[in-house]
Amino acid sequence: MQTLAQTLTSQAVKDSLAQLLLSLADTSKAISSAVRHGALAGVLGATEQENVQGETQKKLDVITNDMLKDALKAEGNVRGLASEEEDYVVEVSPQGEYLVCFDPLDGSSNIDINSLVGTIFSVLPAPEGELNEQSFLQAGRQQVAAGYVLYGPSTMMALTTGQGTQFYTLDPESGEFLLTNDNVQITPDTAEFAINMSNQRFWEAPMQTYIADLLLGKIGPREQSFNMRWIAAMVGDVHRVLCRGGIFTYPTDNKNPAKPFKLRLMYEANPMAFLVEQAGGKASTGYETIMDIQPSEIHQRVAVILGSRNEVDMCLSYHGEDYSQEPNID
Ligand code: F6P
Ligand code: MN
Repeated sequence: MQTLAQTLTSQAVKDSLAQLLLSLADTSKAISSAVRHGALAGVLGATEQENVQGETQKKLDVITNDMLKDALKAEGNVRGLASEEEDYVVEVSPQGEYLVCFDPLDGSSNIDINSLVGTIFSVLPAPEGELNEQSFLQAGRQQVAAGYVLYGPSTMMALTTGQGTQFYTLDPESGEFLLTNDNVQITPDTAEFAINMSNQRFWEAPMQTYIADLLLGKIGPREQSFNMRWIAAMVGDVHRVLCRGGIFTYPTDNKNPAKPFKLRLMYEANPMAFLVEQAGGKASTGYETIMDIQPSEIHQRVAVILGSRNEVDMCLSYHGEDYSQEPNID
């Protein structure tokens, strides 16, 4: 089986980018080890701090953020980084060619219940000149690489450099990421959806109707039964979609009118959209293709609907109709 380094060479990925990706892979091995030691290493539980988005930081959020920051600072090819756990962009190496946006530990509410978590990353080209937030505000279409590492029963990396989506599995014996799927393909059709149903009453009318039709099963307009899954870690839900198809959505809701979206564009939606598109799937907000959004701030949030191409199209067709009905408010 090919190693990650061998695959990047066979894809003729530029040396500087390959080095950066290998450094991210190495750091994820250390994160995997920290996650696996769990309570033994005293890394579970919360800190007393909140991140810029008002979420309580878990100890492992902070530890993994520091691990990635230190590795990217030592790396040499990174001009700057933006992280879910950093209020502002961080300047790294003046000569660096790339910007890295990351969610160091996605799904961190799963940590304390020993459930799925992962690291998500997106690599953009660094523009010339001074580094500031503006340097990062590039559409997802500009990404030169994106991926995640899932700390599950096995540690797996999903990666794209724009040449399809590949899966690598960490071999515990050799410590190498080995290529275990060189051409991930999302089935175009599916009978499985992923959504946090507890927010149902807060969704917009198109999503209410779409999900209601799925729930009607064989007696509804879709004339088939649908299954539901929700891992509460985007990384886990998207991995399932890449493995066996499905539609995953965290739609617009009016639970808190000041915060109509949950997932972050730069280090959650964009990298996942790149992986999904490269695997033959689609990713949209309901009204706009995720990777075509012009970001306005690094911690911007967006609605996300992604996965099996035909099912995403079906969901989008509901959004194209005239829904005059207001979402329910309780
Ligand atoms: O990072 C945000 C996140 O944890 C995602 O990984 C996940 O899909 C979502 O939030 C879960 O949200 P909720 O707790 O509302 O189910
Ligand atoms: Mn996250």
